[in-house]
Amino acid sequence: MAKRVINFNAGPATLPLEVLQTIQNELLDYHDEGMSIMEMSHRSKTFDDLVSATEDVIRKIMDLPSDYHVLFMQGGATGQFAAVPLNLSVEGKVGEYVNTGAWSVKAIKETAKLNKPYRVIASSEENGFKSIPADIPVSSEAAYLHITSNNTIYGTQWARYPESGETPLIADMSSDFYCRRFDGSKFGLIYAGAQKNAGPSGVTIVIIRDDLLSRCSDTIPTVLNYKILAEKHSMYNTPNTFGIYVVNLVMNWILKNGGIDGIEKMNREKAALLYETLDASDFYRPHADKDSRSLMNVTWRLADAGLEKTFVEEALAVGLVGVKGHRSVGGIRASIYNAMTFDGVKALVEFMKNFEEKHG
Ligand SMILES: Cc1ncc(COP(=O)(O)O)c(C=O)c1O
Repeated sequence: MAKRVINFNAGPATLPLEVLQTIQNELLDYHDEGMSIMEMSHRSKTFDDLVSATEDVIRKIMDLPSDYHVLFMQGGATGQFAAVPLNLSVEGKVGEYVNTGAWSVKAIKETAKLNKPYRVIASSEENGFKSIPADIPVSSEAAYLHITSNNTIYGTQWARYPESGETPLIADMSSDFYCRRFDGSKFGLIYAGAQKNAGPSGVTIVIIRDDLLSRCSDTIPTVLNYKILAEKHSMYNTPNTFGIYVVNLVMNWILKNGGIDGIEKMNREKAALLYETLDASDFYRPHADKDSRSLMNVTWRLADAGLEKTFVEEALAVGLVGVKGHRSVGGIRASIYNAMTFDGVKALVEFMKNFEEKHG
């Protein structure tokens, strides 16, 4: 039996054990082809069918309307920070952004660098990114409204998405992709690097409403052009074939575990257990405001910040890996993505209680 730790890494992150076992079983011989998925032509019917099946399962989980394309791109979510303004800017209109921390800032900076018109219409910078701004004054004249659905570093998440009217709503869902039910028809575009909630790094899922493809000009670099990727079924050039395969397995794992509602229920139970533990004691200081707390990345400090290093070390010693906060904010962060089990969170909570008894 392989050694398996309880992995709270923020991304790349833990994957469902069943998915890893399927990969292991199929590695040498994928579906009686006598080769692994990594050795197969992306132009083969077998791979083409896999791409179609992966698009379909992504649509099915969230009942996406039929006028949405599912694309598999490369360049990570960071590539999308550029792809969004390149593809979706409109002459005479401004791209609007809500700033909820580091990842929004990077998206904004990339837009500025490309000389595309933009405006930050709300920000939680003043309170140290502890919350999602309440008032979002969207203009009906905007090219789009861009939000970061979940801030991986600060541990904040939009509880309710903003109403953007006619303005296409765009969300970076890298760290909370398919962690809960939402109405896909409210979005013009969703993107997510797969490496937290959907698969390995190196493949980026993009869901885009058909009418927005008419905005994509031929002058955009081909690998970032949504229209070309949609026309070519994500295979203008060689895609991340292995990555798409794993995304397929992870999405089917969601279906087998009660679909999106089953996954959401489990995520809410895990997060509730951890937040209850944090709230029950002054020893721990949760970072995010209650109404903005993330189901995926739970962040906190210790009342005595000097103990944080010991917390991380002692956690590691009992097989709880990756609980150190992001280098830019410090403290503790537990990423409890879809694949983290309830028992994994229980083990963390037990450890936290013992740690408090010992050091409190
Ligand atoms: C919310 C969010 N957006 C964007 C990124 C950057 O993703 P990538 O490394 O795939 O470019 C991350 C990575 O952690 C993230 O958490």
